[in-house]
Amino acid sequence: MNIATNVSLPAQGSDALGIEKLPTDFYVCENHYRSELENVFSKCWLMVGRETDLAKSGDFFTYKIDALSVSIIVVRGKDGIIRAFRNACTHRGTKIVTEERGRLRGGMICPYHGWAFGLDGDLLNVPDEETFGCLDKDNEGLHTVSLDKWGGFIFINLDPHPQWSLKEYLAPLGEDLIKYVGDEQWTWSFGWKSRVKSNWKSPVDAQVEGYHITYGHRRTISRNVTAETTRPYINPGSIGVPGGHHLFRPEKLGEQTPIGLLAARYGATSLYAEPEKEFAANNFDQLAFSQHPRWILDGYLLFPNTVLFVQKGQLFIQRTLPLSPHECLWEVDFYHSEKPQKFGEKFNHEQGRIQIRDVLSEDLKIVEGIQENYRSGAIKEMNLSRQEVIIRAYYHSIRQFVEEGSSR
Ligand code: FES
Ligand SMILES: [Fe+2]
Repeated sequence: MNIATNVSLPAQGSDALGIEKLPTDFYVCENHYRSELENVFSKCWLMVGRETDLAKSGDFFTYKIDALSVSIIVVRGKDGIIRAFRNACTHRGTKIVTEERGRLRGGMICPYHGWAFGLDGDLLNVPDEETFGCLDKDNEGLHTVSLDKWGGFIFINLDPHPQWSLKEYLAPLGEDLIKYVGDEQWTWSFGWKSRVKSNWKSPVDAQVEGYHITYGHRRTISRNVTAETTRPYINPGSIGVPGGHHLFRPEKLGEQTPIGLLAARYGATSLYAEPEKEFAANNFDQLAFSQHPRWILDGYLLFPNTVLFVQKGQLFIQRTLPLSPHECLWEVDFYHSEKPQKFGEKFNHEQGRIQIRDVLSEDLKIVEGIQENYRSGAIKEMNLSRQEVIIRAYYHSIRQFVEEGSSR
């Protein structure tokens, strides 16, 4: 297939949210950080995994927000329903599950005194029950946490009565995208976690603008993905999706690494994919530019802490969790629609994994340096281009949550 080079791309960014400098204190201020924990992380829908992570009854994973001392069990019940509970025994508060993931056989038994809970959270058995004066077992089940699903993703909300339904929250993403990402074929391939010495928002900032690619990634992907090929947009009325971007191949591909070129023959996980590897994605109508001959991926900022990249055959998810104003946990997960079978496909996946590891290392090194300069007071305001409009939208969303929270 010949790539069309005369197809116009949409305009980059906008000035709709203003052009003024933004203060950097919201990356370092202790009070602001505490307000974010209280008004953002305790109120917003947080993506915690995918339904396919819990394939069978009893499959569970735990989700921790250390900054809030929160631990949650997400588990699939005997009835197939996925539920979330506080990982806290209602006897005296012991953590019932200590592993990160696994399969529970029939229920959960507290390791301290042996209270037994069903996969639906009900309290089933209390050793020496008669020694408790007036125990109402029916009201002593595990405490539930709000949970909902979108496109095969599981979200939780620490607010027992979330202000918005998940559907309202993610409305700009549209129904067709749900169909595409909701396909049960997507299964987890690999991922990792890093502790990063930066504010939790900074790694997100690095994933929602393409301005830095040309220079910041000059040793890795910039030959084939440039600032010019990233088209950011904002969703001004949205609560849960402040903005996103579309990534395109440049009109002229730059020099390519031999290994990247070789891997691109066997799949689309690599950004080095050649034009003749162009694909028409099934059920991809809602991804606005999927039919564009130079389209590579769509990226979405899911407020507050998730970046979702959707490609043909690959979902690339990055999440951040605060540990302090100056440190965060950065989680990366890849899901693929088809398990690589042949050697070439496995090689393609491996090359994609190594490439993204190197690219993210470049990002994380930079954001750690930024944190030091914000913390020392060397830089009190930041300048943002139109290419970086999503960072401005992100800032506005956070400020809105924090201000509304403090006026309550
Ligand atoms: S704290 Fe769980 S059984 Fe005692
Ligand atoms: Fe980057």
